[in-house]
Amino acid sequence: MSSSSSESSNLPVREIPGDYGFPIISAIKDRYDYFYNQGEDAWFHSKAEKYKSTVIKINMAPGPFTSTEYKLVAFLDASSFVYMFDNSLVDKTDTLGGTFKPGKEYYGGYRPVAFIDTSDPNHAALKSYIISSFAKRHNLFIPLFRNMLSDYLFNNLEKQVTEQGKSDFNALLPNMTFGFIFRFLCDQTNPTDTVLGDQGPVHLRNWLLPQLMPSLSAKKLPNFIEDLVFHNFLIPFGFVKKDYNKLVDAFSKNAVSMLDDAEKLGIKREEAVHNMLFLVGINMFAGLNAFFPHLIRFVGEAGPNLHTRLANEIRTSIKEEGGAITLSAINKMSLVKSVVYETLRLRPPVPLQYGKAKKDFMVQSHDASYKINKGQFVVGYQPMASRDPKIFANPDEFVPDRFMDDGEKMLKHVLWSNGRETENPAPENKQCPGKDLVHLLGRLILVEFFMRYDTFTVEITPLFRAPNVAIKTLAKAS
Ligand code: HEM
Repeated sequence: MSSSSSESSNLPVREIPGDYGFPIISAIKDRYDYFYNQGEDAWFHSKAEKYKSTVIKINMAPGPFTSTEYKLVAFLDASSFVYMFDNSLVDKTDTLGGTFKPGKEYYGGYRPVAFIDTSDPNHAALKSYIISSFAKRHNLFIPLFRNMLSDYLFNNLEKQVTEQGKSDFNALLPNMTFGFIFRFLCDQTNPTDTVLGDQGPVHLRNWLLPQLMPSLSAKKLPNFIEDLVFHNFLIPFGFVKKDYNKLVDAFSKNAVSMLDDAEKLGIKREEAVHNMLFLVGINMFAGLNAFFPHLIRFVGEAGPNLHTRLANEIRTSIKEEGGAITLSAINKMSLVKSVVYETLRLRPPVPLQYGKAKKDFMVQSHDASYKINKGQFVVGYQPMASRDPKIFANPDEFVPDRFMDDGEKMLKHVLWSNGRETENPAPENKQCPGKDLVHLLGRLILVEFFMRYDTFTVEITPLFRAPNVAIKTLAKAS
């Protein structure tokens, strides 16, 4: 189904404004502005402002010499952005990570589903497998995640706040999320009982880093040195081969029922393992660890008034369910749900979506219509679409109640899952099949927080994208 608006419009047709500048030099200057001088968000806003348009030509970072294809057209408002979801117009082959792609050896010689376009039958086969195998195990989500929250997050948070005066929330996340993911996919096996020992998250991070660093800034080294190391070349797989092989070994041996399911659907065990690793690392581990800090930051900064409202809603809904934390209790929590949607609207954890035009087409911004030529590399910067001032009032503000009651009708403009919030992932589209799980885990973290505590305070250190969140105080539930 097409998500873009294809009906004819009376908008003026404009040439796409923008300027790629001098070969190589301008792209490198843009990269410095994007990562260091301005930052991602200010860079996109300043370009739109400069050219008075929300469809513009840009040199997309990282550019030379990681990628030779960096002359892109960017979609920067809610109207143009949703063309990114139209499978008939946009080819998603190999564009998941942006303008560069790690070699196939990073994935055991296979291309994981996220790199495959819907026009390839392998996409539907692999995506159906993920959707059906997750649905089959949905009863595990709540008890497993609650155990992980308790063992790896809250026990440590409390101890560190009491003993050290604060606790680094981000630093506790990797063990918690990895513990959940591994047990979920591996028939509830504890990863520390496998060849991984307690090094699972470390191996995963080592394998992810070279894939992600061309599009990130860690802000830990002087800019010039970081740029040289991060953004100029791709790290050969050989450097992380050992880490990846350890992970493949652990999942091959322990994800027995998941791999049996794959074989029953005609997917080779080996292909399923490498797909699973991508799902584990990029989709689940990186996605969730980017999302949770934003959620706790917004809720923490909103202060005691919101905390009291959340605690009341959560405790009342659970009481009505006889004291059990069930899906039906969680589904009654409309403020909790709205807070999760609002976080995903304000800070979509995967902010950039890429693709290439399958044919010539016209894209409409709010103000004009522009011709996109077949083969053109396009990118949507999602935060400008989901904080579009023509769609949302106070678009840059965290409004906890935004999606309650009548506000629910605005959910179609929440786009974090590579599709509208009102649409569903399916084998024939590219929407995230983890959509419902991500909501559930976001809600569960809030539920557990406010079952244990009345209020808490945070200290925020901005990073390139996700903030670093330190918990300063925790007031036990009264
Ligand atoms: C907060 C966490 C997550 C975020 C922000 C997120 C976001 C996204 C986005 C934006 C895409 C589309 C990327 C593109 O094509 O440009 C995507 C695709 C995908 N996601 Fe997620 N995701 C998250 C968690 C998960 C989880 C838990 C799963 C587990 C099932 C998952 C599985 C996938 C898969 C398999 C795809 C590829 C879909 C396809 O090719 O049709 N994601 N996700």
